[in-house]
Amino acid sequence: MIWNLGSINADNFYRVPHLPGPGETLAATDFQQGLGGKGANMSVAAARAGARVTHIGAVGPDGDWARQRLLEYGVDTPHIATTETATGHANITVDISGENNIVLFGGANQALTNQMIGAALAEASPGDTLLLQNETNGQPFAVQTARTLGLKVVYAAAPFQAEAVQALMGQIDLLVLNAVEAEQLESAAGRGLRQLDIADIVVTLGGDGCRWHSSSHAQAETFGAYPVKSIDTTGAGDTFTGYLAAGLDRGLPMKDAIDLAMKAAALMVTRQGTADVIPDLKDIQDHDFS
Ligand code: RIB
Ligand code: NA
Repeated sequence: MIWNLGSINADNFYRVPHLPGPGETLAATDFQQGLGGKGANMSVAAARAGARVTHIGAVGPDGDWARQRLLEYGVDTPHIATTETATGHANITVDISGENNIVLFGGANQALTNQMIGAALAEASPGDTLLLQNETNGQPFAVQTARTLGLKVVYAAAPFQAEAVQALMGQIDLLVLNAVEAEQLESAAGRGLRQLDIADIVVTLGGDGCRWHSSSHAQAETFGAYPVKSIDTTGAGDTFTGYLAAGLDRGLPMKDAIDLAMKAAALMVTRQGTADVIPDLKDIQDHDFS
């Protein structure tokens, strides 16, 4: 069972010929709205990977649709609070190569209280997983509570803040971050990744796959990506982490969980959108990855 403390956003997608520069006004060639937020994306990915997931988060008075949609996608929603602050949203521009940039408004995601988080985790059992990212508040309290209760902690350090990761050092079972974030973390800590007090670390490398730094192996292991034509990379990292957490939660060996997560992420970059278009296990089974 996965308890995901995570953001819920309305995603506004603008398809553009190139990412806009300073002072530039740019006409979008397409517009689309959907459910997103790194947290919601990971909840949906983990649910599509077959895990039982309870989302811990918040929306504004305008956010009932988001809660409904998560429910439709198989995510448990009794611990999504409604706050006076408006639902978070993201304006996402995607260029023709599938690269993006994102402007984020945190809103209700930043209005979570320790009391809300504690009430949710009080229902968790030892051996469950706490999944979390950096788009809500409440991470230190959630991690501390999870450790006390005997939960595994899987942390995707995005959007990246070195201090947030360092504050949780010694309490993380699996840290997921991309190559740029890994470098930032090493330079902030003044040490190499493997010298950090974190059990397992998976570094995503985009089209080059990912690297697993295990607590028990001296050598990091690299896994190649499945080649696909990239339409929109938005949400691919979240899909990877959600699938990875789900695989580990149901006891898959790390290598198998990584393989499934890489397949899900590969399919995800061929789809425009975020939570609404995350592939399920059948999509993965039906796709020819050879
Ligand atoms: O990682 C993609 C996500 O980042 C989007 O869904 C957007 O809401 C932002 O949180
Ligand atoms: Na996408």
